[in-house]
Amino acid sequence: MNRNLTSAADLQRALADRLACIEVFPSLDSTNRYAREQLENGVPSGLTVALEQTAGRGRRGHTFFSPEGGLYMTVYGKPADLEITIQKLTIACAVAVVEAIQETTGIVTQIKWVNDIYLQEKKLCGILCEAPLLPDGSPAGVLAGIGINLRQKEFPPELADKAIALNVPDLSPLTLAEAITRHLLYWQARLADPALLDLYRRSSLVLHREVSFRRNDELIHGIATDINDMGNLLVELSDHTIVSLNSGEISLSGWQRK
Ligand code: BTN
Repeated sequence: MNRNLTSAADLQRALADRLACIEVFPSLDSTNRYAREQLENGVPSGLTVALEQTAGRGRRGHTFFSPEGGLYMTVYGKPADLEITIQKLTIACAVAVVEAIQETTGIVTQIKWVNDIYLQEKKLCGILCEAPLLPDGSPAGVLAGIGINLRQKEFPPELADKAIALNVPDLSPLTLAEAITRHLLYWQARLADPALLDLYRRSSLVLHREVSFRRNDELIHGIATDINDMGNLLVELSDHTIVSLNSGEISLSGWQRK
């Protein structure tokens, strides 16, 4: 465990035996965009950290609010097993973030299926995993982008009652980045280990709660009963049929969509 990493050199020392290229930027447009370029340029693996993003990317083409005071990072590589599914990698990221936050701060967070980390029922962290292709159509590798609200005091009005920051005064972003990377690389090498999904289920914010989701423009309600070995969320409807969701947004009943 590295308690207090304060410089890029500290981070490089801590992870140099595991990743080829470790970089820290005060500001970048998007660490996922940069990591993709690194893969396209033949860099085999790396970690890109930014302390601010000017064009942070979220899921479904959304932007990701990325002001100074947060931690924005992308771990990238070309795993030997390119069968790696993005859904499993996302699960590994979520577990790694929960473990790393607990290790470095003692704070227990929860996973809102499939890939958001929540604290006090508000969003603390978003995850965007991608598998970009090279111009010839072959896989460039995989990248795992993670954005965490660390010290933001204020959020824009549309996020104000949905987002939260960790606000641990002496937590250096690089210390957290190292811990997340270490836990992620551990799980990335063990994606088939049943312990990964067990940890994911144990940290779930949604299991055994009423959830709703949209199907063909209809809002469907049910109880989230399980997460299967593929990472799909199983939802039992009022007629006892089970629906298996493998992607998409769900809401917890009584919540605004977060
Ligand atoms: C989401 O919640 O929609 C996913 C957000 C993912 C944001 C992270 S921040 C680091 C990395 N770089 C990006 O541009 N996006 C991801």
